[in-house]
Amino acid sequence: MDFNVKCGDPEKLRSACVVVGVSAPRRLSAAAERLDKASQGQLGELLKSGDIGTDCGNTTLIHSPRGGIQAKRILVVGCGKDKQLAPKAFIKIARAATAAVENSGAGDALSYLAELEVADRDLAWKARQTVTASRAAVYAFDELKSDAKPAKHPLRRLSVGVSSHEHVDEAQDGVRSGVAIANGIDLARTLGNRPGNRCTPSDLAQQAQDLKKTFSALKVEILEEKDMEKLGMGSLLSVARGSREPAKLIVMQYNGGKKGDKPVVLVGKGVTFDSGGISLKPGAAMDEMKFDMCGAASVFGSVSAVAELKLPINLVGIVPATENLPDGSATKPGDVVTSMSGQTIEVLNTDAEGRLILCDALTYAKKFDPDVVIDIATLTGACVVALGHHALGLLGNDQPLADALLAAGQTACDRAWQLPLWDEYDEALSSNFADMANIGGRSAGTITAACFLGRFTGDYRWAHLDIAGVAWDTGKNKGATGRPVSLLMQYLLDRTAD
Ligand code: BES
Ligand code: MN
Ligand code: ZN
Repeated sequence: MDFNVKCGDPEKLRSACVVVGVSAPRRLSAAAERLDKASQGQLGELLKSGDIGTDCGNTTLIHSPRGGIQAKRILVVGCGKDKQLAPKAFIKIARAATAAVENSGAGDALSYLAELEVADRDLAWKARQTVTASRAAVYAFDELKSDAKPAKHPLRRLSVGVSSHEHVDEAQDGVRSGVAIANGIDLARTLGNRPGNRCTPSDLAQQAQDLKKTFSALKVEILEEKDMEKLGMGSLLSVARGSREPAKLIVMQYNGGKKGDKPVVLVGKGVTFDSGGISLKPGAAMDEMKFDMCGAASVFGSVSAVAELKLPINLVGIVPATENLPDGSATKPGDVVTSMSGQTIEVLNTDAEGRLILCDALTYAKKFDPDVVIDIATLTGACVVALGHHALGLLGNDQPLADALLAAGQTACDRAWQLPLWDEYDEALSSNFADMANIGGRSAGTITAACFLGRFTGDYRWAHLDIAGVAWDTGKNKGATGRPVSLLMQYLLDRTAD
């Protein structure tokens, strides 16, 4: 789907479908008002007769509106009863609108939703969300279906309509960033959705090479197991021992900033399938452990979006990638391994493997002299218990960084919630046989996992995002969400704004 910005009055511009909002009980948005006037009160009549629903996200398609309107159809979208929309409601409305147009037969549409009033959000935000919500509405993972049929009348172009010339630039800005971010989100979703046999560590390494082909500004380096051995990454390699697929450490560099600018480093957990290893998981829903590389997927998505937008920042994406499987040579509970940092780890549970690969990647990150390091990982089931599927868990050693990420999550409607990273929790990691164990006790599992990681961050500023509850949906709509690409991109965009 292509996106652009059009300037003009909604009744005067030609399109297959013009999209406007109405609120309860009978409040027309400015664009709806103009269409109502031009059609001699058609919208008002339909509202009065109850044919137009005003509940948030409700859609009503009007074919062949009365004379005076250049569009072939009008899609009226309900906006609920609030005068000012909540940001989340706007996204819901934009998504519902595109889903409805996609099924309407219209090949192009002109949407005036970005002119609705949204609390604390500017036009650029609304234009951007119109794009990302629309792309989410039409996303499908059907590359493995033999009978995948493309939509009969796909929506090929969506124009963001603005009434005044003064607003064109800002809307265009939003559309441009929206397209790049939507591409990043789609990439993250697609990588997440691919099953373990089609998304191995080698496949992820190939993905990095493919990204480099698309964006020549990227530098890509793949470290093989022998390279990791040389670096002393005994912890990462201990997870890979049970797998026949070789582990990869994928490094992507984008230098859009000034030479001396310290980079942002994103580290993504890339366990392409997590069976638990010798501490084998129960069978129920084990298929979902193909999503255990969604942290890595969000790094790929963000690197792609940053490169597409040519953001003036320096960025490094690091993805430790491996499977976690049981085997005769797999790491056993009680084994002690030596990490790249030199610290020894007693592996009491081979299912706590994410931290074992991340710790070596976090040590490796020092070599880039980072401004900040953010790791993203489907790390703990405990995070799902604590926060459910709405907020991701955020922990870290630098409050200004944590605050910036919390704010970015709010702005992008990809929200995070902070948990404490206090020394008291760290004590749970003590071991009789090594410098630390890889698990704490039963309580505060998300925090003790972060405490473990915190032992490898040295003195750089660091935040950890536990996305176990938000990276994918389960049930009928099972599939990767692409979170938290939106949060990360908002954070990076915010950085370029100061
Ligand atoms: N990938 C899982 C975490 C996970 C589980 C995410 C379920 C989403 C849904 C991780 O590797 C894991 O197995 N963690 C263990 C840690 C425990 C052994 C301390 C967990 O959460 O049970
Ligand atoms: Mn595990
Ligand atoms: Zn895992």
